[in-house]
Amino acid sequence: MLSGKHILLIIGGGIAAYKSLELIRRLQDQGAKVTPVLTRAGEEFVTPLSVSALAGVAVHRDLFDLTSEAEMGHIQLSRSADLVLVAPATADLMAKMAQGLANDLASTLLLATDTPVMVAPAMNVRMWTHPATQRNIAQLRADGVTFVGPNEGGMACGEFGPGRLSEPHEIVDAVAAHFRAGPLAGKRIIVTSGPTHEPIDPVRYIANRSSGAQGTAVARALVDLGAEVVFISGPASVAPPKGVTLVRVETALQMQEAVRAALPADAAVFAAAVADWRVTSASDRKLKKSKDGLPELSFAENPDILKTVSHLPEGRPALVVGFAAETNDVVENATAKRLRKGCDWIVANDVSPSTGIMGGSENAVILISDQGAESWPRMPKEAVATRLAERISTALLYS
Ligand code: CTP
Repeated sequence: MLSGKHILLIIGGGIAAYKSLELIRRLQDQGAKVTPVLTRAGEEFVTPLSVSALAGVAVHRDLFDLTSEAEMGHIQLSRSADLVLVAPATADLMAKMAQGLANDLASTLLLATDTPVMVAPAMNVRMWTHPATQRNIAQLRADGVTFVGPNEGGMACGEFGPGRLSEPHEIVDAVAAHFRAGPLAGKRIIVTSGPTHEPIDPVRYIANRSSGAQGTAVARALVDLGAEVVFISGPASVAPPKGVTLVRVETALQMQEAVRAALPADAAVFAAAVADWRVTSASDRKLKKSKDGLPELSFAENPDILKTVSHLPEGRPALVVGFAAETNDVVENATAKRLRKGCDWIVANDVSPSTGIMGGSENAVILISDQGAESWPRMPKEAVATRLAERISTALLYS
């Protein structure tokens, strides 16, 4: 998969650095040549000896190392690879990259390189969500850096949330996708998926029916064509696809914020079944059945994320795709919806219970664009996704 590819692997500090050893192995298993660089902080977690023993070559550690400089200067080292991979990337290292600092070997290589850079972040959840880190990430994305992960889960520090280093096999998949150079390579696409849950109290919520199957399939198909996908998912019942940057949300407001943070993007596909209303009287305590009768719920309308992004005066993705789940007059309703929302395409489907589409494995869609309505035959949701991804790829080619 990666034969002939040369990867400069920068190993940052952090408990996740131990995974870099397996990462080296897996990259080599795929045929890649790996040149490791270990930061000072990285050395606190993995030894230079274990890294170089596994890589089968000397590990680069110091900016002012005479032997290394005599063998290969750091500028040359930064350019000798096909890809610079930073795994794990700490908040500090990403901050340096975003600022263009060059005060050690790793940051100097990253500033001097003219090859693509992929980053696999790993840090505590609070550090990941901190506005400063998010600002740095936005800057790095704007500079063309691609990201894999982080994953969500339990951390060495005992906290839970996004910030875990992606698993070595996921990083290898992302590297392979980078080199597959599909037609969507270098394109960044946002996909929303699944339902949103709008809390009534800590145990109850209102939601739309959605398994997340179609959105997941679309994200997977876009990854397969080489896109960098930010997958923003409500609480879906199907597992998220591999190789995406996963952002889990629960409510429509969180989904809107996640989409805002994920911009800019070349395209955005809004497959989520967003709840139209949220409960403004949501209680932070469980509502009890009482003799006072039924609870009074008051509602507010949720922001229309698709419409907001479609009308962005600045930074609107070149292609904005919405979905429309209808139960009658599908083409008429979806055509009107496209104009109302201001998106480029609407993928419309008939979700009447008799079609078995909602929660099922197949879909029959009509693609509505300024060219009119195009009916696709009924097919598995994966096939709809592949066809849609190919259409998106063609559209972006000419945008
Ligand atoms: N959508 C969104 N944000 C919302 C509601 C919907 O981004 N708050 C997106 C969905 O992801 C989907 C499209 O808008 O791509 C269709 O939404 P839908 O709820 O069907 O449209 P409505 O405008 O609510 O129309 P109606 O309820 O009248 O069918």
